[in-house]
Amino acid sequence: MTEIARVGVCGAGLMGSGIAQTAATAGFEVVLMEVDAAALQRGTASMAAALDKAVAKQRMTQTERDAVLGRIAATTDVKDLKNCDIVIEAIVENVAIKTALFKQLDDLLAAHAVICTNTSSLCVIELAAATKRPDRVAGLHFFNPVPVMKLVEVVRTIATTPETIDRLFAFAQKLGKEPIHAKDTPGFVVNRLLVPYLLYAIRVYEDGLASKEDIDKGMKLGCGYPMGPFELLDFVGLDTTYFIAQIMFDEFKDPMMAPPTLLKRMVLAGRYGRKNGKGFYDYA
Ligand code: CAA
Ligand code: NAD
Repeated sequence: MTEIARVGVCGAGLMGSGIAQTAATAGFEVVLMEVDAAALQRGTASMAAALDKAVAKQRMTQTERDAVLGRIAATTDVKDLKNCDIVIEAIVENVAIKTALFKQLDDLLAAHAVICTNTSSLCVIELAAATKRPDRVAGLHFFNPVPVMKLVEVVRTIATTPETIDRLFAFAQKLGKEPIHAKDTPGFVVNRLLVPYLLYAIRVYEDGLASKEDIDKGMKLGCGYPMGPFELLDFVGLDTTYFIAQIMFDEFKDPMMAPPTLLKRMVLAGRYGRKNGKGFYDYA
């Protein structure tokens, strides 16, 4: 079994930049690929800022910080992923765009390489079926913010081999994460429970239950959650949450998973949350 040395990450948004930073901090060589040059620059700047904070808090020396960033090669050319032993896709939550990328990766990568998706809700087997290596395709679902959250869901499809799952468990542990097994069902374990909760918070807010500030305060002080639902929705991204809700509703036809009318309108208004400065709250 080929040792994982070089890690590819696709997408330099919230998740991709966090995954790249985490892998480089764990000592892996990383190639971070993004289609949008401006997004690549933003992702690189956010990794540098997070590492600067770690230096300021004396969790890391300046030399270590420079070495971590030095292990990350940022690119807009998918061909630069060629020598990666594993590629983790963390691009927009859209099956057509992800499938096209999986085909490209399958043609490009060596036979031993594993292709993973960080999808929150899509069918992993649908992406695997776009490749000639479905036995070496799995879900590797990280949580936001990736450098902080300990959990990784390792998602086995009906075609993933136990050897691939073992490799991914060992890899997640090398990243300092706690892997758990998950089945290839939309939302896996955590989002199956979390997404209906977040969507229900929007519905009861629309119904006038309380102000969003009081709903957030209630869940933080009453349940000890680190963020209230509206803070968390803004943190995850309202665009991403909307895509996830559509995918989960499409699969389960459970009204709890349908995107609330307000969520749709906020996305149409371009309010994506923290990532672009305005969501349920203002971050300007
Ligand atoms: N990158 C790196 N480190 C970060 C970070 C980031 N983006 N954000 C925060 N941190 C670090 C801080 O540097 C700090 O580190 P130290 O303890 O070493 O000093 C630590 O995290 C705590 O941060 P803060 O003191 O600034 O803030 P906080 O105590 O309010 O914690 C938080 C911030 C960790 C984000 C916390 O609010 C939290 O846990 N929120 C809930 C997050 C959550 O539920 N995530 C899951 C989202 S759902 C998902 O990811 C799945 C999906 O498919 C949608
Ligand atoms: P994001 O919008 O912050 O970033 C997505 C990035 O992918 C964008 O910068 C975009 O330019 C880029 N991209 C689009 N097509 C591409 C392609 N073909 N090649 C390379 N880059 C491409 O989104 P995000 O929040 O980082 O989410 C990414 C994935 O991770 C989604 O599947 C999402 O469901 C999942 N996820 C998100 C969270 C979260 O809290 N936001 C948590 C876990 C999993």
